Amino acid sequence: MSEEKRYLTFALGKGRLADKTLELLESIGITCEEMKDKKSRKLIFVNEELKLRFFLAKNPDVPTYVEYGAADIGVVGSDVICEENRRVYEVLDLGFGKCRMCVCGPKEAEELLQHHEMIRVASKYPNIAKDYFYNKKHQTVDIIKLNGSVELGPIVELSDVIVDIVETGSTLRENGLTVLEEICPISARMIVNRVSMQMETERIKDIIGRLRDKLSEVRTEGENS
Ligand code: PRP
Repeated sequence: MSEEKRYLTFALGKGRLADKTLELLESIGITCEEMKDKKSRKLIFVNEELKLRFFLAKNPDVPTYVEYGAADIGVVGSDVICEENRRVYEVLDLGFGKCRMCVCGPKEAEELLQHHEMIRVASKYPNIAKDYFYNKKHQTVDIIKLNGSVELGPIVELSDVIVDIVETGSTLRENGLTVLEEICPISARMIVNRVSMQMETERIKDIIGRLRDKLSEVRTEGENS
């Protein structure tokens, strides 16, 4: 007697990444019609046929759901993965959601970074900021955690610089700030719960393999066009 398949659950970071992820999953035949209804207040969506479930979560919560096994698979930016430092497997770089983690501020703040001065750093990513300044630059800094619109920090003199993601650079430009140092490149990643990887190896590896093939197909098409 064949055993009933259990649901595999995906946690997707809300916003731009979720739309891109759903598009990518759809391209390999993993669809979730229920999720397309933008007016819906439902939190969890099911594809009964494929025995898959999907939910949207705040980005920093995605690695938490995956670490605890509430979701088997998660998709979130590598910025969040670094910041949260959860015990999960990072299995695939999805190549979209590309941006850079940077130290930014007014041009004049460049000096402050060169002389190892005690400065104030505002960020939504206190762990990344701490690791960069303490372990890589060996500079003692005061880190101030903010939850958004971090660019305000230097403008209202809460901080000397910020550590934040830069995508197009327009938020910086429009606020008279600039990139002072680059910390690392960022992109969307797929993460997997450690136990799920053992228990559902075949199904999860199949999804990873198909996504990897699709991504390289898209990359090749891009190179040849
Ligand atoms: C992110 C980031 C920057 C901006 C960068 O903020 O924190 O503020 O986008 O993008 P850009 O280089 O294309 O201008 P988000 O829109 O997530 O809002 P938040 O600051 O309120 O978190």
